[in-house]
Amino acid sequence: MEISGSRSFTLSLAFLLLSFCSGTCNAKDDTSAKSCTSSCGHVHNISYPFRLNDDPKYCGDVRYTLSCESNITVLYLPSSGKYYVQAINYNDKTIRLLDPGLVNTNCSSMPRNFPHNTLYYYDHYSRGNLTSIYYFKCLNPLNSSLYVDTAPCLNNTSSSSSSQPKTYSYVMVGQYMEVWELDEGCSAEGRAWMNLGHFDHSDYTNVSYKDIHSALVYGFELHFWPGIRCQGWNYGSSCFPDTIPGASTLD
Ligand SMILES: *[C@@H]1O[C@H](CO)[C@@H](O)[C@H](O)[C@H]1NC(C)=O
Ligand SMILES: *[C@@H]1O[C@H](CO)[C@@H](O)[C@H](O)[C@H]1NC(C)=O
Ligand SMILES: *[C@@H]1O[C@H](CO)[C@@H](O)[C@H](O)[C@H]1NC(C)=O
Ligand SMILES: *[C@@H]1O[C@H](CO)[C@@H](O)[C@H](O)[C@H]1NC(C)=O
Ligand SMILES: *[C@@H]1O[C@H](CO)[C@@H](O)[C@H](O)[C@H]1NC(C)=O
Ligand SMILES: *[C@@H]1O[C@H](CO)[C@@H](O)[C@H](O)[C@H]1NC(C)=O
Ligand SMILES: *[C@@H]1O[C@H](CO)[C@@H](O)[C@H](O)[C@H]1NC(C)=O
Ligand SMILES: *[C@@H]1O[C@H](CO)[C@@H](O)[C@H](O)[C@H]1NC(C)=O
Repeated sequence: MEISGSRSFTLSLAFLLLSFCSGTCNAKDDTSAKSCTSSCGHVHNISYPFRLNDDPKYCGDVRYTLSCESNITVLYLPSSGKYYVQAINYNDKTIRLLDPGLVNTNCSSMPRNFPHNTLYYYDHYSRGNLTSIYYFKCLNPLNSSLYVDTAPCLNNTSSSSSSQPKTYSYVMVGQYMEVWELDEGCSAEGRAWMNLGHFDHSDYTNVSYKDIHSALVYGFELHFWPGIRCQGWNYGSSCFPDTIPGASTLD
């Protein structure tokens, strides 16, 4: 009787200590995670949930780890590649990213990443109000209001040798594109995300590729904490990613 009584006392004491610790220790962890502020290049306010990879472990949230490479803040999106961080807005919960291939002063510069699909749940980000710019090379000139001629930024290549046929270069603006929508003789060469709102409406017939390039070098915004809003499809209170790897859609 006595033994079991003292044991239950020890157990409840241990339980008490444990719950005391789990309460206060977590609270302390949370405060320190939010107490860190780092800076890299022109991104000065890197704070919770973001952290730099050489910050102390308790800083920020590991899912939002950025790195500082030659004074440039870099984010690796597992499904898309490496992007330069342009700005973080903690009020809107958005991060503005730029493809490292796109250079402000050079409209011949092209995106380096080719994100084939939308963001996955493991990216920990969701799309903001974005559209896509698809890059094409075609064996024949196209006459369609859907396509924007990229000259003189990206020119048609001349057939210098018989193994390299003459190609025509275009971009298409569009939210989604299915691979079977590609015109015959055309191949997709790249894709970049662009914030909507740079151009009026969805009429791109009068938009030059130079304008599109200027819009691209501003970067595009993703939402962090995507759990707040569902980026895929909702079923009840559950949220599922909206793509299946290997599916034929390019978005
Ligand atoms: C990094 O950027 C900061 C802020 O722009 C600047 O003060 C510093 O000199 C830069 N350092 C290097 C090594 O470029
Ligand atoms: C940095 O971000 C935190 C929120 O994470 C905010 O409280 C603080 O005011 C910001 N500081 C500056 C200088 O923007
Ligand atoms: C502009 O970018 C293109 C493609 O990356 C490159 O070939 C060219 O050398 C660049 N021009 C300048 C002036 O940097
Ligand atoms: C392109 O198509 C439009 C209408 O579809 C036509 O008026 C125009 O002549 C065509 N241009 C060329 C170069 O084929
Ligand atoms: C590329 O080819 C298209 C279609 O023939 C033409 O409209 C455009 O001017 C050409 N661009 C250059 C830079 O030659
Ligand atoms: C494209 O062609 C234009 C005019 O023919 C030329 O001025 C420009 O330098 C060319 N651009 C590239 C990237 O070759
Ligand atoms: C996205 O941008 C388009 C064009 O600017 C606008 O019409 C639409 O309302 C925006 N949607 C959201 C959710 O912000
Ligand atoms: C495109 O621009 C031309 C010349 O500036 C103008 O006449 C035409 O109405 C514009 N088309 C559209 C659809 O805005």
